[in-house]
Formats: sequence, structure tokens, C-alpha cells
Amino acid sequence: MKPLAHSYLGEIINYVPGKSKVGNKKAIKLSSNENALKTSPKAIQAYKNHVPAIFRYADGGCTALREALAKQNNIDAKKIVCGAGSDELIAILAYAFAGVGDEIIYSEYGFLMYPISTKRVGAIPVKVKEKNLKTDVEAILQAITPKTKIIFLANPNNPTGSYLNKADLEDLINKIPKNILIALDHAYEEFVEAKDYPSGIELVNQHENVVMLRTFSKIYGLASLRIGWCYSSSNISEILNKVRGPFNVGGPAQAAAVAALEDEEFFQLSKDHNSKWRKIFFDELKGNKKIIAYPSQGNFILLDFGSKENSVKANKALLAEGIIIREMDGYGLPHCLRLTIGTAEENMQLLNILQNGF
Ligand SMILES: Cc1ncc(COP(=O)(O)O)c(C=O)c1O
Repeated sequence: MKPLAHSYLGEIINYVPGKSKVGNKKAIKLSSNENALKTSPKAIQAYKNHVPAIFRYADGGCTALREALAKQNNIDAKKIVCGAGSDELIAILAYAFAGVGDEIIYSEYGFLMYPISTKRVGAIPVKVKEKNLKTDVEAILQAITPKTKIIFLANPNNPTGSYLNKADLEDLINKIPKNILIALDHAYEEFVEAKDYPSGIELVNQHENVVMLRTFSKIYGLASLRIGWCYSSSNISEILNKVRGPFNVGGPAQAAAVAALEDEEFFQLSKDHNSKWRKIFFDELKGNKKIIAYPSQGNFILLDFGSKENSVKANKALLAEGIIIREMDGYGLPHCLRLTIGTAEENMQLLNILQNGF
């Protein structure tokens, strides 16, 4: 006799984070879509200022942070729920809206936490084929059944970098039954430059069944603090507040996030740096016969080497120089690798090997 967990948990393939070490060498880590410019100095100071108060429980309602987000986005703070990263929000959405035998839809190369969070609640992940590495609205509509409870869509998507424009997304939202929740994961929204990119806030305002997820892990550079937020109708935020932990976001994380929001200069520097280098990568790799660089709206680029053999060869050459980018086998793209945009120096070293070194 032994304690038995739910049998469906055995089906979960654990999330494998980006590597951060190559032997004993000092590595250049470009494998987890972190901010190339690190973190706002003001956020670090706010974090430090909070340290003497860490013996206290944090504000379980994240009041100051929700109010700052509400003010910045001109929305109601009551409709915002903060979480320990958007990962936690993905998990509690699945927990609140799906259960054993229900179906949750995500696109073929969607973020790996969608099927994981689905399986944790005993629901069935329904992976829908993409077209040219982009979410296929028609195929998603075809995949809907009476058991469908949630559709998770990363926009732009990690790892492909592709995005659904406003017209395509509105088409999808208008065609699906209103009892299905659409979770728009906008983890990389701040890096987007496409003019036809949809406003998640407007879509949530217009549709009771749409929620939007955001994170402080990417442009705000606070990945280690685990902090994200969900904007939804007040009915949904009330439910999420019932299922989240009472103190799910720590005090230093809340303080740092408020300061990060106020630091417009760091935000703009990060955005400009990303836009500049994303363009340089594309321009440089255009003439490269061994690599296709897929267009990206995020702080990362998916590189296609044509075969698993070639991607392994390129990866080995990079690792030999201490450069770690992300292997894509877990996403079903073994012939690809995904780079995160780094500092100018890191990018130059990476580009040099991609152009001349394998
Ligand atoms: C599309 C997408 N959503 C969510 C996350 C998770 O972000 P967080 O650090 O807020 O949990 C990531 C992280 O890489 C991501 O790529």
C-alpha cells in the first residue's frame, strides 16, 4: 500500500527550462527569453528597500501593484489578479475552468505550459496544427467540441515568434461559443511592433469570455521574482481570487514590479534594444544559406537549420564557445533552435558563429 496521486499526473512531461551552464565555462545564456538589459535599477532598489519587511506576510491582494496597472492601462483594478508568474495564472485558469475529461485547445507550437497545466487537472490537451508556424484559426474552430473549456493562445507565440493580427483574432473570438474561455497570453506584448497587433485589453472589455495574461518576466526583467497578472471580467477575477493562494506573490516582488512599471526609461531602452537587434539578426541572416530565421515579434528568434543533424552541429559549435540557445525538441521542432536577443556583445558573438562557425 502507498499513497496514490491521480493517475493522470503520470502523463505529464515536466517542463525543461533553458540550460544555463556549459561545463565550468562562464556561459552566455540566451535560452530563456530573459531581458538582455537585465533589470531596472529602480526595481532593484525597491526590492532592496523591501528586505527589512520580509518577516511579514505580503499584501495578499497586491493592492498597490494592481492599482498601478489599472492606472497605467485605464482599467478597473478589481478585474486584475496577480500571480506567481503567468505560469501560475495559466495553471489556475485550467484549475478553475476545466476538469477531468474536459478539453483544452492550444496550437501546435504553443507554449509548453499549456498542455502541462491541462494534464494537471485531468483535462485533455488538444493540440491543433499550425499553418506555416502560425496559429490556424480555421483549424481551431474545427477542433472545438462540447467538451472544450479553454483555448490558450500565446500572441506573439513562443517559440515561433508569429502572431495573430486583430482581424484574425476577432474572427476567432466571434465564432466560438461564449462558454469557452479564450486566454490570450501576451507575455511578449511589449516587444511587438506590428501595427495590426490586437489590444488584449480592448478584447477583454468587449468579451466576457476573453482573459489576457501578462508578465513581469520579460521586458521588465523580473523573471526570478515570479510575477504576472491576468485581466478579465470581474466575474472571472472573483473566481481566480478563490483558487489562488492567499499570498501568492511575495512582498519584494510586488515592490519591484511597481517600481519597474514607473521606470519608463528602462522600459524604452529594453524595447529599443530589442527592436534594433531583432532587425540586425534578420538582416544579417537573410543571406545565410544554412539557416531560415522566422520573423518574430518577441525578444527571441526561431532558427530553422533544415535538419536535426544541422541544428545539432550548430548547437555544438555554439556550446563550444559557451553560448547557450534553446533546443526545440520539446516543441516538436528538432531541426530548429531558438535564440534570445542578448547584449550587443553577446549578439555579435552568436552571429559570428551562426555565419561562419559551423
Ligand atoms: C508565451 C509565454 N507565456 C508565459 C510564460 C511564463 O512567464 P512567467 O515567467 O510570467 O511565468 C512564458 C515564459 O517563457 C512564455 O513564453
